[in-house]
Amino acid sequence: MSLVVFPFKDEDPAVAIANIRTAAIHPRVSFVLCVGSSGDDTFGLIEAAVSEVGRQTGVPVHTLVQMRMGLRRPGKGDAMNTALAWFLAEGDFERVHFYDADITTFSGTWISKAERAADEGYPAVRHYFPRSSTDAMITWFITRPGLAKLWPGTVLPKIRQPLGGELLFTREVVQHLADDPAVVAQSDWGIDTRLTLSVGAGGFPVAEVYIPEGKLHKLYGSLTDIEDMAVECFSAVREARGLEVSAEIDHRVDDPSRVGETMRTKVAYSVEDTVGLLSEGWTDVQVEMLGHFPSAVRDGMLAGREDPAVDFLGHELWGEVYDVALARFDSADDDWRSLLFRVWVARVLSYTAREAVKGYDSAISYLQATIARYEAEAQ
Ligand code: DGY
Repeated sequence: MSLVVFPFKDEDPAVAIANIRTAAIHPRVSFVLCVGSSGDDTFGLIEAAVSEVGRQTGVPVHTLVQMRMGLRRPGKGDAMNTALAWFLAEGDFERVHFYDADITTFSGTWISKAERAADEGYPAVRHYFPRSSTDAMITWFITRPGLAKLWPGTVLPKIRQPLGGELLFTREVVQHLADDPAVVAQSDWGIDTRLTLSVGAGGFPVAEVYIPEGKLHKLYGSLTDIEDMAVECFSAVREARGLEVSAEIDHRVDDPSRVGETMRTKVAYSVEDTVGLLSEGWTDVQVEMLGHFPSAVRDGMLAGREDPAVDFLGHELWGEVYDVALARFDSADDDWRSLLFRVWVARVLSYTAREAVKGYDSAISYLQATIARYEAEAQ
């Protein structure tokens, strides 16, 4: 039987509770665990509601306060690692599923598809979704380029959504993850990336199951909302340099269906609220650090402080920026964090102005081609 875990933080309790109920009534699920920080407003509301869900469904539903397990910023990684440790200590579950608590399109099919792939022999199952062409900007410009550059020829650059948090692992994979000090240390937003890397290093076969209705959840306004996520995902990739991953891992991906009209036309972030990030908050040190990058990047970033109509940062130049950041980035240095974020913002705006405007199919093909090129160049 399976355990379902919802890591949560400041969610809409009605959405979270509906999802908890959906999981609890699934025939393969014998326990639902909700892991969050006791300081959050949502914690008390969810805690108060879950015993009623448990009573109605006959399946135990518990809340758990996330433990301080990692070495980075306390966040989602601590919640997921707390759940992995609980899984091993408390029950004889065969499998664990993770789902973000704020998904408004969650249904029992998500659980069934993952269970089916596990029944077919895949110990690690990842859900993947259609996403709008201006969504997944960390996936496309931070995580996937890094996996392509650092682990070419392996399964890692092929993973559709390497920072997705909708996952199934069998007990054997959970044990491997809980034994990996780099996973336990990754208490921040880097956890999803780190789990992908650790599963890859463990050599476990991976299935990716497709969820056509997509993952609709809270949207962000300006890209500042995901500044920490962008920087923490980059750090997780960078710190894993040198990790050995076999080129022989079995990897199965469900065929995607045609993407619906809403997703094809949705703009996932506010360009208007984002352009200001290029002019605000520069320090003299950051201006000086621009000298590490190719001159076209330095000049473009300096020009972007006055004129936010940025479109100079194409995939080749971004590849060069990425290599410099792999060599020099320091996650303990606020200037480096801020500069990396700002150059990433310029890359996102350049892509939006040059490629996303051409329409969904063209934009997604372009993004896929960039990953293939980074991988080919690294081989
Ligand atoms: C990503 O890039 O995939 C993050 O979820 C932000 O959209």
